[in-house]
Amino acid sequence: MTRNNDRSRIEQGRRRVWHMMTKKEEQATFTEMINGTEKDYAIIGEHYKAFAKDLPDRVLKHLSILEGDTGGFAVDRLTHCIQTATRAYRDGRDEEYVVCALLHDIGDTIATANHADLAATMLQPFVSEKNYWIVKHHGIFQGYYFWEYLGMDKNTRDQYKESEHWNDCAEFCAKYDQNSFDPEYDNMPLEEFEPMVRNVFSKSMEIEGEASPSYINQ
Ligand SMILES: [Fe+2]
Ligand SMILES: [Fe+2]
Repeated sequence: MTRNNDRSRIEQGRRRVWHMMTKKEEQATFTEMINGTEKDYAIIGEHYKAFAKDLPDRVLKHLSILEGDTGGFAVDRLTHCIQTATRAYRDGRDEEYVVCALLHDIGDTIATANHADLAATMLQPFVSEKNYWIVKHHGIFQGYYFWEYLGMDKNTRDQYKESEHWNDCAEFCAKYDQNSFDPEYDNMPLEEFEPMVRNVFSKSMEIEGEASPSYINQ
């Protein structure tokens, strides 16, 4: 009897695997959006839900490609990001702030000319207006520490003096960003930040209606 039950279970498992291997993924059939139907968008909507759920993984994967590239600094870009986040965490900052610190330079690889904008845009739907502002402007505020050596005005940040977030951004750079190039610093492992990234990037799921599916904007 037990042997028969085992056989039946194995057979069921085989059928399940076969079904998974042969099942064709449902896709919309239109080739021009003008011909799309409600059914097409129901299918696309289902794909979007799964895709949106995996966003934290894609963010972490992209962050990892900063590894190994120092850009001439004493630590590589990933280490700089982790060190910035570690300092923020140890200073008692909340989860959202720490995640912003971790990801503030994620745009370094593909937005060389405006990396701060890339990180800020990516974070905007998930973080406060203040944290968004800090990430978006940190590049100009970092200039305070070195632009004089490039023939630029180190005080360019002062054009934002009227902003209610000026002090917050200056503080982020002073306490966590400009000083995170230390090869001897005891950084936290990246794995410790991963649950924080997942928490922050799951927030938009709760903001019904505000997070528009990406396919709407294609
Ligand atoms: Fe930066
Ligand atoms: Fe940085």
